[in-house]
Amino acid sequence: MKKLKRKDRTRAKVSKKFNWKTHHDELAWFKGEKINAAYNAVTRHALSDHANKPALYWENDRGKAKTLTFSELEKLSNKFANVLKKLQIKKGERVFIFLPKVPETYISFLGILKTGAIAGTLFQAFGYAALEDRLKNSGAKYLITSSELVGRVDKVKKNLPKLKKIILIDKIKVKKNEISYSKEMAKASDEFKVKPMKPEDPAFMLYTSGTTGKPKGVIHKHGAILQQHLTAKKVLDLKENDIYWCTADPGWVTGIAYGILGNWSNGVSSLVYEGKFSPDKWYSLIKKYKVKVWYTAPTAIRMLMRSGVKLPKKYNLKSLRYLCSVGEPLNPEAIRWGRKAFGLSFHDTWWQTETGAICIANQPTLKMKVGSMGKPFLGVKAAVLNDKGKEVLNHAGDLVLKPGWPSMMKEIWRNEKKYKSYFKKGWYYSGDKALQDQEGYFWFIGRADDIIKTRGERVGPFEVESALIEHPGIAEAAVIGKPDALLGEIIKAFVVLAKDYKPSKNFTEEIKKFVKKRLAGHAYPKEIEIRKDLPKTRSGKIVRRFLKAQELGLTMGDTSTLEKE
Ligand code: WT7
Repeated sequence: MKKLKRKDRTRAKVSKKFNWKTHHDELAWFKGEKINAAYNAVTRHALSDHANKPALYWENDRGKAKTLTFSELEKLSNKFANVLKKLQIKKGERVFIFLPKVPETYISFLGILKTGAIAGTLFQAFGYAALEDRLKNSGAKYLITSSELVGRVDKVKKNLPKLKKIILIDKIKVKKNEISYSKEMAKASDEFKVKPMKPEDPAFMLYTSGTTGKPKGVIHKHGAILQQHLTAKKVLDLKENDIYWCTADPGWVTGIAYGILGNWSNGVSSLVYEGKFSPDKWYSLIKKYKVKVWYTAPTAIRMLMRSGVKLPKKYNLKSLRYLCSVGEPLNPEAIRWGRKAFGLSFHDTWWQTETGAICIANQPTLKMKVGSMGKPFLGVKAAVLNDKGKEVLNHAGDLVLKPGWPSMMKEIWRNEKKYKSYFKKGWYYSGDKALQDQEGYFWFIGRADDIIKTRGERVGPFEVESALIEHPGIAEAAVIGKPDALLGEIIKAFVVLAKDYKPSKNFTEEIKKFVKKRLAGHAYPKEIEIRKDLPKTRSGKIVRRFLKAQELGLTMGDTSTLEKE
């Protein structure tokens, strides 16, 4: 074995000795080893000399801004918890949030956790079919949303018998089955006894896409905050007096784990910007709020790159100290550009909705290898396995983790079979292909399945295909991710038209709109190609990877594999 450098030797020693339990005292616990993630994120700071420190700096693109201190956030989330208590919410019941990045999203999320109910988040771009799938599968009892978004839920409400009430954040006069948020909040007490939970009790859930079937509900535990807290501190390098900006939306896991829980657990003032992306706006926010730590995604970095290296120089961005990225491969060009634009490197972090927190990263204590995702976080054991399940170095294989990290998903909501399918011979299979080099650095190669990553957002081809074949003109559909220099991948659909169907001139535009309305503003096919037929196995399953190989101009390989499937 090659001799390890001194820094690596120290790391190896620390890693051997590492035990999650020794870090328990960084969190607040109730009697009997009980915990509540929301108590850790806000209550304990509101009870400390941080009470009057800003927790949330919020601003939108329509000139509105608001600052909430830890104490204010505590009181408001207590009020929301009391609103739910009055509605007789019980531990483990699901309350969903379908809102943009407004303060109410953060207040209600924390309030839900305080009661012991499970908080579910829905990305604001979701269309009615996507909402129906998620609200039906979760059996959500209450939904909090706005008058702008509620129409999409109303459309499918008749299919959601478990949904008792809809709480509207911006309405005083409400219909039957609706509740006015402001009216109830005004009446509610700002004191609430946070419910002590077992570390393995569910706290929040998120729907995420696989290759087949409808999206799955990934359940996360209150105890996950241990890893969210430690990685926010040791990977994102958050320090007590930092101003921190996580650009992710709480509709996705990053926006929860590092936009609510891990960051606030460290008592750090956090910026939230609700509005359209624009390089000028982003830079002006960093300048205005003196952002020190910035956690964003490769697509956003590439969009900033397009507006040039001169633009950031026009702003005083000297406050920036540490930059991180997640969600898709961070190209070396993006790191090099960051160095020119900000004099700092973006640090890649790898994890998934299912892992609940960062697992592999370019940590502050590591020498960075540009293009690599870095090394596993202390206490996380990662490996690359070959087809026989043997650990390999310097060879592409399956990226796997040893189960036992604190933020690992608890279950897939009411789908034990799916949950079990992640595990084989004592390993958690991420579904990613990677390579581990001799020095223990991990290099991302690609997905092992057909999951699409567009703008860093995960889209299941099955969901898009299901929406496409709802259209009367489409008989069959197959969807792939096509590499794109800016967005990582774009969604491309291959469709077979229904018999005797004559597409109009605007067919492509019509189909895009059709999918957007049902599914989501971000999950529609940018390219649509009409085909006579689609490649299938003998049993009639469409083989997406053949379409992808064709699209990429690769050889089709041995077609006999088609016959065997
Ligand atoms: C998939 C998980 C949890 C963060 C947001 C994404 C891809 C994630 C990286 C990275 C290359 C990455 C993987 C992974 N991915 N981070 N640093 N480099 N690819 O969560 O939506 O559940 O997606 O995103 O393919 O499996 P997600």
